[in-house]
Amino acid sequence: MLITLDESHRQLVHQARDEAGAWLATKGTDQYRGGLDLTQVHTNIDRDFDAHEFVGWQVDGQVVAMLAISTPDTDFWTPAERVELQTYISRFYVTEHGRGHGAALLGAVEERAHQAGNHWLRLNCWTTNTRLHDYYRAHGYKHVRTCDVPTRPSGALFEKDLLGS
Ligand SMILES: CC(C)(COP(=O)(O)OP(=O)(O)OC[C@H]1O[C@@H](n2cnc3c(N)ncnc32)[C@H](O)[C@@H]1OP(=O)(O)O)[C@@H](O)C(=O)NCCC(=O)NCCS
Repeated sequence: MLITLDESHRQLVHQARDEAGAWLATKGTDQYRGGLDLTQVHTNIDRDFDAHEFVGWQVDGQVVAMLAISTPDTDFWTPAERVELQTYISRFYVTEHGRGHGAALLGAVEERAHQAGNHWLRLNCWTTNTRLHDYYRAHGYKHVRTCDVPTRPSGALFEKDLLGS
């Protein structure tokens, strides 16, 4: 079931991001490594949590996947792209891998976005992590372009056409 997260879930988002960092360290990628320490990461999550809606996928009363409904990143998307009808996601984490919880949440968010009349589901993700790119491709996303912005390692842009063309 798709739910909107509330204050009681803030620490869960911190924890899921911490665990994602540890999990990724075993995956042969530099995603989430270098740069920010966890205190700064949590501060950034709090900033997003205060500014945006976070949604979760709930199974048996537990939130098992989460993401933020945010806005197109101005470092990466053009003004023309940013005004198109879209849902923009970030901070996509699961509490347990291999169960399809993330995919279930993504599908529910796509369905909600489609019903709201959005044309696109969009995101930016880690530039060098081709396995993550494969994940999005497997879920119907197309690579738009990769932006080379100094200090921004998440410049790979993906989108899904919710109108199905
Ligand atoms: C992305 C995510 C939310 C998807 O959740 P999910 O749909 O339940 O899928 P799973 O976690 O079971 O992963 C499915 C497959 O994608 C791979 N995958 C997913 N994210 C990956 C990543 N960041 N780097 C490398 N591989 C990744 C998994 O290894 C797995 O591969 P396998 O089928 O060969 O075992 C979850 O994998 C996650 O929390 N990843 C870490 C954080 C992250 O990268 N978030 C996206 C930021 S844009």
